[in-house]
Amino acid sequence: MAEKNEEFEKLKQECLQCQKCDLCKTRTNVVFGTGVDNAEVMFIGEAPGENEDLKGEPFVGRGGQLLDKMLAAVDLDRKKNIYIANTVKCRPPKNRDPLPEEQEQCIGWLRKQFAILRPKIVVCLGRIAAAKIIKPDIKITKEHGIFFEKNGVLMMAVLHPAALLRNPNNKPAAFEDFLKLQEKIKEICDHTYDEQKSE
Ligand code: URA
Repeated sequence: MAEKNEEFEKLKQECLQCQKCDLCKTRTNVVFGTGVDNAEVMFIGEAPGENEDLKGEPFVGRGGQLLDKMLAAVDLDRKKNIYIANTVKCRPPKNRDPLPEEQEQCIGWLRKQFAILRPKIVVCLGRIAAAKIIKPDIKITKEHGIFFEKNGVLMMAVLHPAALLRNPNNKPAAFEDFLKLQEKIKEICDHTYDEQKSE
């Protein structure tokens, strides 16, 4: 595992210097990603918000706290058994949607993270990440919680935590999706849950 760790660290140091698009001019920090380097499950969000930009870590605001609670309900934890990254590594001003060209400039970093990690399951948080990673015309309201297979990797979209904060009525449906994820992890992953048991 040490080798993977080194690869991640090298990639991170390169990414922290990135000036491929204008978001580098307004960012406080590059939000590279966080988690364990043997994760079998990778979560992908859209782009950092204000709190993430200040801290340099994904999903650390109110949405992130909700995400952490939902993860904990299915025994997932960014410090123990998953990895979390965004499609765009720097905060778009005033939290606007990332522009297509910003996504294009940035996606190479995520591809490299994916290549190092080689996850078995990818979970896209919200429509923008799902459209970029799963399929451009995804209908998140209808297709959340459904597994799609792409090049041997299972991919699922879930409702974005910020959308759940705006519309808490959707929390039960989102929780159902996390239960489906838990079932799939038990079915196809080798060590995601073992490592927690062995602590
Ligand atoms: N929303 C995202 O999509 N990603 C973050 O890191 C924070 C909020």
